[in-house]
Amino acid sequence: MREERPTRDQLRVLIPEERLQARIKELGAQIRADYGDRPITCVGVLKGSFMFMADLVRAIGGDIRCEFLAVSSYHGGTRSTGVVRITEDLRTPIEGQDTLVIEDIIDTGLTLDYLLRSLQVRGPASLKTCCLLDKPAHREVALDSDYVGFSIPDEFVVGYGLDLAERYRNLPHIAVYTP
Ligand code: PRP
Repeated sequence: MREERPTRDQLRVLIPEERLQARIKELGAQIRADYGDRPITCVGVLKGSFMFMADLVRAIGGDIRCEFLAVSSYHGGTRSTGVVRITEDLRTPIEGQDTLVIEDIIDTGLTLDYLLRSLQVRGPASLKTCCLLDKPAHREVALDSDYVGFSIPDEFVVGYGLDLAERYRNLPHIAVYTP
């Protein structure tokens, strides 16, 4: 009798590591040029942005402060629920600071829209966004990121910080997941 084998996840590389790193260097140079030598408070949105944030702040260089907050919107599935929740807030005020929100992906836009409204009322000197990936197909709010790494097709992506039920965050590239 044959043993039934477990179904293997299908992963296909969408953006290889070298392309990711080259684009992040370009983004960093562009951001630093735009801000001059002003300090930038980078706010990483956990968990997905942790790897992008680590590479981007090095690419920007100069005077950078690193802050983090955590949100939850997908709750382990492959579709957005539309429910945004701040699960851990900033530990310091951003009042008077040039603040750059760093996200791994903008999909429906609900998370970023909610975050920008929450942060704007705290009185930053400026508030901009940098998203590694932009998936415009399912946008539910009219929102564009100030800086975008790559525009991607309507597929579920994992890797380089992005997960499926907490798996695959450690991949050095972006991959398309097909169940
Ligand atoms: C992902 C991603 C963004 C959000 C984008 O977070 O990191 O925060 O979804 O989707 P949206 O534009 O449709 O709102 P997720 O809830 O998966 O949490 P994680 O970063 O901890 O993986």
